[in-house]
Amino acid sequence: MQFTTLPGFRDFYPDLCSRKVHIFDTWRKSAQSFNFLEYDAPILEPLDLYIEKSGSEITGQLFNFQDRGDRSVALRPELTPSLARMVGAKANSLKRPIKWFNIGENFRYERPQKGRLRSFYQFNADIFGESGPAADAELISLLGNTLQAFGLKDSDFTIRLSDRDIWLLILSSEGIHGADATLVLGIIDKMERSDRSQSIKLLSGVLNNGAEDFMIMIEKIMSIRDFASLRDLLLNLKLDSVRAEQAKLRISQWDDLLSLLSNTCVSNSLQIDLSIVRGLAYYTGFVFEAFESGGKGRALAGGGRYDSLVQKLGGPEMPATGFAMGDVTLSNLLEDSDLLDDICVKSPDFIVIIAASDISNEALKDTTMLRSLGYSVEYPLKLSSVSKQLKEANRVGATIALIYGTENQISNNVIVRDLKNKVEHVFARELLSELPKDWLANGITAK
Ligand code: HAM
Repeated sequence: MQFTTLPGFRDFYPDLCSRKVHIFDTWRKSAQSFNFLEYDAPILEPLDLYIEKSGSEITGQLFNFQDRGDRSVALRPELTPSLARMVGAKANSLKRPIKWFNIGENFRYERPQKGRLRSFYQFNADIFGESGPAADAELISLLGNTLQAFGLKDSDFTIRLSDRDIWLLILSSEGIHGADATLVLGIIDKMERSDRSQSIKLLSGVLNNGAEDFMIMIEKIMSIRDFASLRDLLLNLKLDSVRAEQAKLRISQWDDLLSLLSNTCVSNSLQIDLSIVRGLAYYTGFVFEAFESGGKGRALAGGGRYDSLVQKLGGPEMPATGFAMGDVTLSNLLEDSDLLDDICVKSPDFIVIIAASDISNEALKDTTMLRSLGYSVEYPLKLSSVSKQLKEANRVGATIALIYGTENQISNNVIVRDLKNKVEHVFARELLSELPKDWLANGITAK
């Protein structure tokens, strides 16, 4: 019987794995350029960590089971609850602002489809301890910087920016509060992917007769694309005096955020779009998602503020904001944009070719020395003719062949063959430790 992977899981053969490594390296470099520190967390967590904290959308997709100690556990569907727990546990000793990133695997029992799998990797970046828009701006610009680091142009993607605080103010002006407001936000979150009449039907569960008019109002709000219209909307809401003050404060925070972002690499990619409300239960203020510009695929990344999660998980009060970018939609976009064509398995610096078995010990000693210097060296696992070995050298794409034991060659010498330029020279083996850097950079010149 032949086994295959489970649905929604992937095998990474070396060519595909080299693309994965390229994506991870680019994520890591981008995060480090913003001075984020790398952390890690367990893949298996107590089930309770996700119940209610992530919301029903994710808890319905958990890979969960009882372990042998009869604990209810789950493979992590996302990293944010683990991170909030970690930060909460050491909140007093951590220097703020806490700017951390992680690259890791997550599991969701979703229906596998384009852009959605059951196992996928995420790049998570989060900031704790900073409640002002500067933290949101830092993350949104890290998101844009990361996409551009793969070679995407700012016109290739859109970062849609929204605000759950504004929605709560809008809903409160309509007399919708608490659990009803959460319900309506859940319906708005799914509107893009659902039928209009279905959304109205769901809204009527909260609004009775007013659902149709409410839908028309929501659609108008969701079509707002400029700050002036957003400000007008907020200033004209029917709010009590406390909420009216909140609305004014929010306008100035939006102003701050947009002016910060206008000085970053995302200034041309940003779009105000209140149709983004995010499906996860813990979000509080600014929220955002990144999409391919054509808007075809699922989100490339998503995130936002979650100022109460640390406290909900037993930690102190701690403002937080962050995002995660997934590898599946990103790889699809990079492939479609021909930005992964040059990413392939790495070739060795040197390949060793042995013409006579009595010199294989010397060849292995030199191989060991070069490997200890950090070069990658392919050493033959079994002997064959020199022509076969040279063919193999070309197949693996080595830069330089080191040929041992050909006729007229004394054991203290090695033939160094530049496989690209097809030139070769005889060198004393003792020079091997000094010359490789120069050979690899400039090709071989006789010594
Ligand atoms: P999320 O929107 O659930 O947010 O996921 C973020 C990204 O992970 C998505 O935009 C997508 O690229 C990728 N992703 C999610 N589910 C799948 C899937 N089944 N298959 C492939 N890719 C997927 C979160 O996970 C939040 N915890 C992000 C966050 C961090 N918020 C604050 N900090």
